[in-house]
Amino acid sequence: MIDFRSDTVTKPSKAMRDIMYNAPVGDDVYGDDESVNQLEAYACERFEFAEALFCSSGTQANLLALMAHCERGDEYICGQSAHNYKFEGGGAAVLGSIQPQPIENEADGTLCFNKIAAAIKPDDNHFANTRLLSLENTIGGKVLALDYLAATRKFVNQHSLSLHLDGARAFNAAADLNVDITAITQHFDSVSICLSKGLGAPVGSLLLGSKALISKARRWRKVLG
Ligand SMILES: Cc1ncc(COP(=O)(O)O)c(C=O)c1O
Repeated sequence: MIDFRSDTVTKPSKAMRDIMYNAPVGDDVYGDDESVNQLEAYACERFEFAEALFCSSGTQANLLALMAHCERGDEYICGQSAHNYKFEGGGAAVLGSIQPQPIENEADGTLCFNKIAAAIKPDDNHFANTRLLSLENTIGGKVLALDYLAATRKFVNQHSLSLHLDGARAFNAAADLNVDITAITQHFDSVSICLSKGLGAPVGSLLLGSKALISKARRWRKVLG
């Protein structure tokens, strides 16, 4: 039987379980976990990012990204139906002192540039500092077009914002578009990828970014436990 409730219910195959059983392990904070080191090195190559961080979940990877991009009193713009706004317990506000500024997703899952521009706060003590735009792909099962992603990169450059992708299901988008994953991820400053959705791993996510960004995220991961 195939369980279609969600791709979060995928289970590891026997070959995956055997590899896990035999995997070398160690203390990841000391950098001694050979399996994690190999995974992070592989992820850097595979996604063409300078640095990668193994995280326990997609929620953790998204929170670390928000906390690495934004300081206390900053703001991120995202979709009203974004997982990292609506379905992660308000973690950015609760644990990061970061204000979410959600805007309505369009029917195709995109965010309208005019609406984003209107939500960006002027540099004025009344307002939180708008630092980051966060997209999700796939979002609600919808795939964002590659030309929309390229246009979003241009938009954030014009407005001096950083750009994060909640790519929990980015491999589904790549499969649908019949492109390599890097065609999607190349537009972003940071990307979270779930290994536990559709890919069969029982747990785990990756956060990708620059060396400086991942170094901040690595510290916050320690702080979060
Ligand atoms: C788009 C998206 N982002 C993040 C997450 C969070 O992942 P996790 O359940 O590993 O915390 C999910 C979970 O379903 C998701 O659908």
